[in-house]
Amino acid sequence: MDRIPRILVFDSGLGGLTVFRALFRQRPDAQFFYAADDLGFPYGPKAEAEVVALVLRAMEKLIADHAPDVVVIACNTASTLVLPHLRARWPNLPFVGTVPAIKPAAEQSQSRLISVLATPGTVARDYTFDLIAQFAGHCEVTLVGSKTLAGLAESFVHGAAIEDAEVAAEIAPCFVDRDGRRTDAIVLACTHYPLLLDSFRRLAPWPLRWVDPAPAIALRTDHVISALFPRRKGAIEGGFSFHFTSGATPAPKLLTTLESLAREGASPASEMLRHRAIGQ
Ligand code: DGL
Repeated sequence: MDRIPRILVFDSGLGGLTVFRALFRQRPDAQFFYAADDLGFPYGPKAEAEVVALVLRAMEKLIADHAPDVVVIACNTASTLVLPHLRARWPNLPFVGTVPAIKPAAEQSQSRLISVLATPGTVARDYTFDLIAQFAGHCEVTLVGSKTLAGLAESFVHGAAIEDAEVAAEIAPCFVDRDGRRTDAIVLACTHYPLLLDSFRRLAPWPLRWVDPAPAIALRTDHVISALFPRRKGAIEGGFSFHFTSGATPAPKLLTTLESLAREGASPASEMLRHRAIGQ
């Protein structure tokens, strides 16, 4: 197709930016629409049926407004539930989900002790148990559902100071030291958590691998989109805009943070991209 691919990236909040920045790096020629369901945030503590209803409702408007060629659900709490519902409702639209990266963590673990740090919803999902049964049978998997980390990550993006003690207490149960073996990988199974990775590393009782699925999601999305829109070398035509289900527009300070987060890790060429104003 001879036009710019349109990619909708969706999360309950701002955590999906950690997936978006990897996507933006992968396909700087695409037009991105980043959407946060700030009306529904947080999804983590909500009942499964409520999360499904929230995502379907948000998606009706977002798909009608932005006519995406592919939708990336940059949220584990949602993806582990809603993908079949979305595919049934929009059978001709590709959806790429974000689910706990248990497979790569288990494959590379030497100690065979791994942990999954997620929202309370994600650690209770059948989907997560199935991933463990399928890919981590040889490991002991510790599931840690944090009630506060996604909110802390949101506050952090909004410029608030985060208490080290609170973060340390939330990640502590991930670190298991038993019979001469120690946890050697933690799956970041909530897209908000990589926003706090610097603190996690600094506060970790020992160094280990933090597994962020964002680069893999970006590759998968590129694969899906490339079938329809072959990458055009040197094309600098894309950009991004931010949308909130409440209709809010971010204050200038937050907008600057969102833009720099989106560009984090971006290639020099993509630095030249023009980007659209909020709400377009
Ligand atoms: N970012 C979402 C995830 O990946 C969860 C945040 C929330 O609780 O809404 O699971």
